[in-house]
Formats: sequence, structure tokens, C-alpha cells
Amino acid sequence: MNQNRILEEAGAIDPGRFLEDYRELAALEHLYNAAIRQLTIKFEILNDEFKVKYERSPIHHVESRVKSTESIVNKLLKRGLEISTESAREHVNDIAGVRVVCCYIDDVYSVADMLLRQSDIKLLKEQDYIREPNYNGYRSLHLDIEMPIYLSDKTEMVKAEVQLRTVAMDFWASLEHDLRYKSDKTIPAGIQDEMLSCANEIAEIDRRMQEIYKRIQAI
Ligand code: GTP
Ligand code: MG
Repeated sequence: MNQNRILEEAGAIDPGRFLEDYRELAALEHLYNAAIRQLTIKFEILNDEFKVKYERSPIHHVESRVKSTESIVNKLLKRGLEISTESAREHVNDIAGVRVVCCYIDDVYSVADMLLRQSDIKLLKEQDYIREPNYNGYRSLHLDIEMPIYLSDKTEMVKAEVQLRTVAMDFWASLEHDLRYKSDKTIPAGIQDEMLSCANEIAEIDRRMQEIYKRIQAI
């Protein structure tokens, strides 16, 4: 969606003010990039230490992205919230998004605990879609956090969404995302059930792999 479309949808919003906010919002990207870099380093450090202690890495890989200004504005519009920098910083928790893909289910919770023990990380909201999967079978642990970013003359508190999941959960979520967003066709009936069934089978394999790992550890 281009800026004009967004402006049309915004309706009553003063275009001059809106564009000013749009630019201001885009200028904040460096803060969210900083949060992503700090979080990524935290996970790298934890993984390195784990490797030294236990000769294995709980984290398979880490992905990240900063939400585009367009997507931020769309999210605010959809929720009927004010389009402003303050509003985005307050209400959009996932401008900075970090995805931590772990090897086993237990690793997801260990890594989450290790992060939350750090004194500069404040937990705002936790959504455990592993214990309680989404209606479609989506599984992940979501942590909405806030952390300080030290700038030249001030400290900014910046929000970020950390999604932790296993390789198996990531396999399902990545393909489901691809199927849902890339397909402009109407999804035939029954596909939703099929996706849920795939998610449940993958979850069962995840549990079996975890058990195999534990059995090997016990030798
Ligand atoms: P937000 O403020 O947007 O976080 O609202 P929320 O907390 O209700 O959303 P939630 O944290 O549940 O989901 C946000 C993100 O999780 C999405 O942007 C996706 O990355 C991921 N997600 C949630 N549900 C699904 C799903 O069904 N499939 C896939 N592939 N990803 C999902
Ligand atoms: Mg969320």
C-alpha cells in the first residue's frame, strides 16, 4: 500500500500532520535496529556459553526484522488508534521483532528464562502458544519486552517482540505464512483442518525428538 492509499484510509487525519508523523516514525528505525542488535548479541552470548558448558547449542538460529513504517501505520489504522509516533511506540509492540529458533521444546523455555533473568529486560506480555496453540495449530512462545537503549544524551525504553519456537514449529509457521499470504485464491474448505492436523503431527514429532535427545543424554 502506498502513502496515498494509507492517507485515504486514514480519512479524517490531517494529511500534513500525518506525513510529519510518518517521517518521524521512519526516523525512529535506528532505535528499533539497536534493540534488535542488542537482543541478537544477548542470544549469541547465551548460545556461546551454553556450548562451553554443555557442548551443544540450544539456539539453531536467530532472525529479525524491523516493521516497515507502512505496516506500523496499517496496524494503528486497523486498531482505530491515533497515527502518531507516540501511539506507535506505545501500542505497537512488534516494531522490533526477533525470532529465536531453538532445537528442542525445552530449549525454548530455557532460552526464554535466560533472557528474562537479565536485569535490563522487562517483560510486558507473555503469550504461550506452545502450551495453548492458536486455533490453527500455530505454536510459539511470544515475549513482548522492553529494554533500554543508551543514546548520546538520553536513554530510550524500546519495545520488542521475541518469538521463540523450535525448528519444527518454525517449519510449520513459515509454510503456513507462505500459503496464507502469497495465495490470492480462495482457500478451499478443509484446508484449515488439514493445516491443524499437520501442526499436531509436527508437534508430536517435536515431542518424540525431545525424548530421543533425553534418552541419548541419559546414556
Ligand atoms: P500483536 O500486537 O500484533 O503482537 O497482537 P497479538 O499479540 O494478538 O498477536 P500475536 O503475538 O499472537 O501474533 C503476532 C505474530 O505472531 C504475527 O505477526 C506472526 O509473526 C506470528 N503469528 C501469530 N499467529 C500466527 C499464525 O497463525 N501463523 C503464523 N505463521 N504466524 C503467526
Ligand atoms: Mg503479540
